[in-house]
Amino acid sequence: MFKERYAKISGWGKYVPEHVITNKDLEKMVDTSDEWITQRTGIKERRIRGENDTNSSMAVAASLPALEMAGLTAVDLDLIIVCTSSPDYLLPPVSSQVQDMLGANCGAFQLTAGCSGWVYGLATATSFIKSGMYNNILVVGSEIISFAIDYTDRQTCVLFGDAAAAVVLKPSEEPSGVLSFELGSDGSEYDALHVYDGGSTNPVSAITYEQGRHYIHMDGRRVFKFASRVVAQSLKRTIADAGLFPDDIDLYIPHQANARIVDAGARLMRQPLEKFYMNIHKYGNTSTASVPLAMVEALEEGRLKEGDKVAMIAFGAGLTWATVVVQLGVGEISPAHSLFSTGRAQYVAKRARETVLDGVQAALLPLYTFIERIRDN
Ligand code: ACO
Repeated sequence: MFKERYAKISGWGKYVPEHVITNKDLEKMVDTSDEWITQRTGIKERRIRGENDTNSSMAVAASLPALEMAGLTAVDLDLIIVCTSSPDYLLPPVSSQVQDMLGANCGAFQLTAGCSGWVYGLATATSFIKSGMYNNILVVGSEIISFAIDYTDRQTCVLFGDAAAAVVLKPSEEPSGVLSFELGSDGSEYDALHVYDGGSTNPVSAITYEQGRHYIHMDGRRVFKFASRVVAQSLKRTIADAGLFPDDIDLYIPHQANARIVDAGARLMRQPLEKFYMNIHKYGNTSTASVPLAMVEALEEGRLKEGDKVAMIAFGAGLTWATVVVQLGVGEISPAHSLFSTGRAQYVAKRARETVLDGVQAALLPLYTFIERIRDN
């Protein structure tokens, strides 16, 4: 009989640079205040790469403890995926440097999907393992996003920080790892978060530096609106695809971009804010490292245990988004797998109730947005 394969998260690790930049430090650099940054974003400080930190060295520093915890060495790996928007060089892909530095003997590729990259990578690695193609896969999110930040632009410089985090996936026959995922993209909004020069359309020139076209330019309000909409919608779809309900999720791990986006997401999910993990105050937005770093810290703090179900969502440049529902360790089989046996009637009734509540919420959303705007002003 066919036995389903799962991709168990078997090891994890993180690396954060030592150098801290606080909101008070930024007050000396741009026209901003600790009060504004804290209230509008939830960020208090962020880490910035040290002299010896490179994207590849940070990726390796996060990967070594992940491999050790998984009981593997680099030669046991079948594939390495390094997710990033800030590789050491435009060419080669940083994944090959990481493969070499670890001493691995396997394929490696770089995956770029803005801040959503690592969640894309987790879904991709899971698919390789589920198909039976590979066994042991390392998925790293490593970001030195500070290299593309203009420290005279108060809109972006207060938001971002550098970090890396990694997981090792191994095959399992027990329900574990990614139970469902959604990968999304809306390229029509590509210019909401954009580096104009340095690609093949606009190669670097003297004008690039004069006009600061090598830095990240962001229409914060557009990204904010997109994120506030997509977070709850995508979480609901992906949780339903796993045969679960929002109440079944033990911990939500959202992209750490802005605490207000998380707040709106929790309300639209009708879930208490305490179920949404946040470490944004310590690190700001570390782009593709944000979700795995939050997951690793939630594990270190004991906020997650074997068998817990976790919903993670990231969004960012592209514009892209990616959502996964994950079961940590080995847990009870998810209701989706036993739909046609016990509990089907309760399942259908609960699903109908959720659908009605979502409909009412969608109808009331314009009023809710209007009240929020008045409250903000
Ligand atoms: N300090 C003080 N004032 C500021 C700052 C600052 N750091 N930044 C902006 N302001 C001012 C603006 O100039 C504006 O002033 P004005 O009214 O006189 O014009 C006022 O504050 C309000 O500006 P808004 O842009 O409306 O501020 P908002 O509340 O939207 O917050 C922010 C801005 C924090 C950028 C928000 O829009 C945001 O978080 N957007 C989402 C960003 C994001 O999630 N990015 C994720 C993807 S990242 C990736 O993929 C790499």
